Amino acid sequence: MRCDQTPAWKALQEHAQTFAGFDLRTAFAQDPERFQVLSQTAPYVFADLSKNHTDAATEALLIELARQTGLVAHRDAMFRGEHINTTEDRAVMHWLLRQPEGSLQGALAEPLALVHGTLKAMLAYAEQVRADAQITDVVNIGIGGSDLGPQMAVLALQDFVIPGKRFHFVSNVDGHELTGVLKGLKPDNTLFVVASKTFTTLDTMTNAHSALAWFKAQGGLDVARHFVALTSNVSAAADFGATTTFGFWDWVGGRYSMWSAIGLPVAIAIGSAGFKDLLAGAHAMDQHFLATPLEANLPVRLGLLDVWYRNFMHYTSRSIAPYHSGLRRWPAFLQQLEMESNGKRVDRNGQALTHGTSPVLWGEQGTNGQHAFFQMLHQGTDVVPLEIVAFKNPAHPLLEHHALTLANALAQAQALMCGKADTGGHKHFEGNRPSTFLLLDELTPASLGALTALQEHRVFVSGSVWGINSFDQWGVELGKVLAQDIRARMTSGDGAGLDASTAGLLGRLR
Ligand code: F6P
Repeated sequence: MRCDQTPAWKALQEHAQTFAGFDLRTAFAQDPERFQVLSQTAPYVFADLSKNHTDAATEALLIELARQTGLVAHRDAMFRGEHINTTEDRAVMHWLLRQPEGSLQGALAEPLALVHGTLKAMLAYAEQVRADAQITDVVNIGIGGSDLGPQMAVLALQDFVIPGKRFHFVSNVDGHELTGVLKGLKPDNTLFVVASKTFTTLDTMTNAHSALAWFKAQGGLDVARHFVALTSNVSAAADFGATTTFGFWDWVGGRYSMWSAIGLPVAIAIGSAGFKDLLAGAHAMDQHFLATPLEANLPVRLGLLDVWYRNFMHYTSRSIAPYHSGLRRWPAFLQQLEMESNGKRVDRNGQALTHGTSPVLWGEQGTNGQHAFFQMLHQGTDVVPLEIVAFKNPAHPLLEHHALTLANALAQAQALMCGKADTGGHKHFEGNRPSTFLLLDELTPASLGALTALQEHRVFVSGSVWGINSFDQWGVELGKVLAQDIRARMTSGDGAGLDASTAGLLGRLR
C-alpha cells in the first residue's frame, strides 16, 4: 500500500500535530530512560538517537508504517534475489558481495560462487600489485559509484594503507584534474585502474583515453601491465585495450559497488586481509538488518527517523559531520548513496508521489564544519538535523588532539540541544536542535564496512516506505544526452532549436 494511504500515515500526521511544542530538554527531564530507550547497539556502531525530535510513541507509529507498507517483505525479497529494481528488471544483491563463501543454498549458490571466484582473482591481483615495488602510484579513473566508494574508503583507512604507494582518484572530465595528477607521474611506476560499470560513461572514457595517450607519449609500452579495467561490460574493456579485467554483475548498483571489483584500489591499499575485514564488517550489518526485530534494528530506526523528519517534521535536509579527518569524503559518498537512490518523484509504478522523498544531504568533517556552516545549524531559521560520527580510539599518538576532537563532537550535539538563553538576540541560542550521534570504537576496515552497510540499508528503509525504486537513476540520463548534443553544436556552431539562454551562452563560447 502507498505510504500516504495507510492508516499509520494518518496517525503520524495527527501525532505530528501534538509534536508542535516538543522540546528535547523537557523530554529528557520527563523521561530518565530516554537515552536508553532511544539508543541502539548494532555491529561496530552505537547510535544515540535520543537528541532527535522523536520519542517511543513516534517510533511505534513509524514501525506500524513500516509494517503497513511491507518493509519486511521488500527487504526479504532483496535478500532472496528478486528483481526489486523493477525499472531495470534487475536483482539488488550488493549484500551478496559480502556473503561468506558457500553460505547459501539454492538459486543464490551459483552467483555466490561467481562472487568468490572474482574476489579471489581480484585479491590475488591486488597482492601482486602490493608486492610490485616498481608501481608507486595507483590512479583510479572512474566517477560516481566508481569513484566515491573506493576514494572514501582509501582515505578513511589511510592508517592501514601500504607504505610506498600513492593513490589518486580522477573523476572529473574537466582536464585540470587529470593533468594535475599526471604531472607528478612516470608511466613505468603507474597503474591506471579504469573503473566503470558500464564502460560507456563519457567522463571516465575521456579520462581513460587521455591517460592511455599520455602513457604511450611518455614512452610507456606495456599497456597490459599498466592498465586494468573494472566493469560489468567486459567486451567494451577489451575494445579499450585492457587485457586484465575484473568483472561484476548488473545486480550491483554503481553506488553500492565498492564491495565488488570496483574495490580494487581499496584492496591494493589495505591488502586482501583488510578487504576481507571490510566485507565481514558489512556482512555483520547485513545480518543485523535481516534478523533483528524492527524495534531494535538500527538501519530501520534510522530510515524511519528519516521518513518522520522528511514527511512529518518537514525538515528537508540532513547535515553530516564525521569527526575523523579520514572520513572527509564521507559526506560526498552519502550524498550519492541517498540522493541518487531516493531522489525520486514517482512510485515503483511510475505514479507521481504527493509526499517528499530524499532529503538534501550535505556536510563536512568536524571540526572544520564548525568554523564554516555550523552557525546556521545553531542559529539559522531552518532546523537541520545533524548526524555526527565519532570514534573512541584514535590511530595516532596525539591524545590531546583526539580528546579535543571528541569534546567538540559532544559539545556540538549538546549546544544544539541545550542552547543558551541570552537577552541580546544575537547571543541567544534557542536550542532544541536535533542530532544523531554514531559512536564507533575505532575506524578499521571492519567498522567502516559496517558503518557503510548501515547507511545503505537505512536508505533502503526510507526508499521502501516511500514506495520508490531506490536502485535506478534515470534522472541523470537527460543531462548526458544533452551534453553530447551541445558538444556537437560547439563544433558546428548550430544553435537551431535551442532555448535563447543556452544559445546565447554557446555563442559567447565561440
Ligand atoms: O551518473 C550516473 C551513474 O550511472 C552513477 O549511478 C554511477 O555510479 C556513475 O554514473 C558511473 O557509472 P559507471 O560506473 O558506469 O561509469
